[in-house]
This record gives sequence, structure tokens and C-alpha cells, in this order.
Amino acid sequence: MNLLIKDVHLEDNPDSTDLRIAEGYFTEIGPGLEPAPGETVVPGGGRLVLPPIIESHVHLDSAMTAGQPRWNASGTLFEGIEVWSERKRDLTVADVKERVNRAVRQQARFGVQYVRTHVDVTDPGLTALRALLELREELADFVTLQLVAFPQEGIESYPNGRDLMREAASMGVDVIGAIPHFEFTREYSVSSLRYAVDLALEFDLLVDVHCDETDDEASRGLETLATLAYENQMGARVTASHTTAMHSYNNAYVNRLMRVLTLSGINFVSNPLVNTHLQARTDTYPKRRGVTRVKELTEAGLNVSFGQDDIVDPWNPLGTGNLRDVVFNGLHVTQMMGHQQIVDSYRFITHNAARTLNLSDYGIEVGHSADFVIFDAPSWYEALSFNAPVVGSYRGGRLIARTEPVEHEVLF
Ligand code: FE2
Repeated sequence: MNLLIKDVHLEDNPDSTDLRIAEGYFTEIGPGLEPAPGETVVPGGGRLVLPPIIESHVHLDSAMTAGQPRWNASGTLFEGIEVWSERKRDLTVADVKERVNRAVRQQARFGVQYVRTHVDVTDPGLTALRALLELREELADFVTLQLVAFPQEGIESYPNGRDLMREAASMGVDVIGAIPHFEFTREYSVSSLRYAVDLALEFDLLVDVHCDETDDEASRGLETLATLAYENQMGARVTASHTTAMHSYNNAYVNRLMRVLTLSGINFVSNPLVNTHLQARTDTYPKRRGVTRVKELTEAGLNVSFGQDDIVDPWNPLGTGNLRDVVFNGLHVTQMMGHQQIVDSYRFITHNAARTLNLSDYGIEVGHSADFVIFDAPSWYEALSFNAPVVGSYRGGRLIARTEPVEHEVLF
């Protein structure tokens, strides 16, 4: 179907524009476009249009399992790993597919069309990975899934951890993961990162590490990862997720660290909602916020995106899949509430995340696939403030999710 979307605000452009779509691609973008024969005109009503929302860090294999077989009583990352370890003994491909299908459809309601999901491969049967590999194909028309081989219980510290990672790589994952702060020793931490980077180079894959997700200021996986990325000239093909220990590093160390971070050009993913919940559990008062230095990294020109991390699972019983909530929380907790910072913040879940995922054809441009979302608000500032729904999510010019705005009536 050929479409003419009339009168929308594209990203942060205050002027109204129109989008012409033919055969699933943007063919013309500009104000005052006239309908062509056979075109369906969609009135935009001055609403905000963004490129599709990108979830750059989530664990879909554990989604929708909160309370199974028990609740995470302490609210810590480590009890979450224990609870999940118990739950995953009962995994079947059908179980994983049923839950992930629900989670992906929930994300779609909020305009998500790209998802990088970490998949736990510390499981001798690789059950979750087999399910996600099937889903990557089955859902491809509606969502692009990027799969990370994620060693939840370690590469060096889990039986046959290295072999499981290699098997996952050969089965067709997109990204190699690691979890250096969970390994038994600092030496294992370093060797696990070397193994992960070498594996990624061998299979020509991306790297995304759960890096220093702890409040321990002595957790220094990031410097090793960034150095490996720099020495192998991998740049944006490498991502450091979480890096919450960086919150607690002393400033003199961070000054030194920033040099190799900048030289390396790696990406960062922060998960502010989940990490404000999980981190600082051993603090009494004052309690640390437990979120990496998003403001400082951004100001240094490093790429940072935001992720949800968990949707109704042992690490976050309240994850919704709506990345607006993550940005809203993230701006508060990182103290990035200057007006321009708020105006720019949609980039954490669009363009910055596209760089993290290494997407090459992302964005609303003539010649690109007609993938976009329409918010029921005139600007991102208002969409964020009032939690505006995504009234339409289009992929290849086809409407794949829609929400009817709620009407409010205050009777005084
Ligand atoms: Fe994570």
C-alpha cells in the first residue's frame, strides 16, 4: 500500500512535514506533498514521528517468569541469578517461545522494532538459544532480534563454559557476551574477556559484555574490554553493558580510564531502571544510585544507549517493555534534566542504540525501509512527560501495532 503521512513533526524538527511511502520505502520527505493517484492519505495531526524504538539490552529468555519458582526476596542481582538458575532447569523450547512471543508483542505496543536480547548459554542443552534462534526467523517481519551468547554463570567459572560459548557461536548468534564480574577470580575475569573477544573475531561477530555490574569499585573489567577493543580495532563492534562499578570508581581512576575508552570508541548500554533497583544493596546510608556515568560518557563523545534489561523476571518484576519509562527514570537518576538533554533523550533509544546494534540502514530517509512510529504528542518532550502512547508503529510501510489514545475527562 502506498501512503502519504501528512503533517507530522520529524524527531526534533519543530516544522511540520509529510512522508511519502511507496512499495514499503520512503520515497519523498518534505512539507506540502500532494497526494498521488492510488495513495492512502494518513492525517498525522502534527504528531511526533520517530524512527523505530530500539531495545538495546534485554533478557527475553527470562521474561515473564517473575515468581517462578520463587520471588527474588533480597532484590539483588545475585539472588536473581540463583532464582533463574532454578527456573531454567525446567526450560523447554515451547515454554521459552510462548513467553518471548508475549514479551515481543508487549514491546511492539511501545514501538519497539529492534531488540538485542542476551540469551543465557550456561545451560548444557542450550534450550533458550534454540528457541530464540527459531523466533528470530519467525518474527523477522515484525521485529529484528539480535541474539547475544550470554554466559550468565561465567565462561571460566561454569562447567564447559568455553565450549558452550563456542557452540552458541557456531549455532548462529549475532553477538558474543561475557560476565567478568561474576567469574571466580580477577584472572578468570581477564581470560574470559580475552576468550570472548577472540571468539567474536574468529566468527566475525559483535561483542556485548555484562561488564562490572556490581558496586565493587575494584571491578575493572571495563579497562580490559576497552583495551582489547582498541588493540583489535573493533570500535563500535564492542559494547560494555551496565558498567555500574564505574559509578563507584574514584575520579582519578576514571580520568585515566577515559583515555582508553575514548581511543577504543566502544559503545555503552545503561539500564537505569533495573540498576537503581538492583545495585547498592549492601549499602546502608547513604545509598549509591548504581548507574554508570552516562552524563560524563555522553559529554566525552562516547555512545550510550538505554535498555530495559528485564521484563517481569527475577531481576525486575515490574519491567513493562516500554523504553519511555527507562528514559524517564534514566534522566532523573543521571541528573540529565537540562532542557536540551531532555529534548535529545529519544536518541538513547533510537540513534544511539542503532550504533550499538551496528544497524546500517536505520533512520527516516528517502530510500530506507518505511519503518517509523507515531506518538500521540507533538514533540518528544511532551511524549516523555505525559507518557504518550505510540498510536502507530509501521514497518516496511505496514501498520504492525496501534494504540487508541485514552480520553481523559476531569469533572470539575
Ligand atoms: Fe543484563
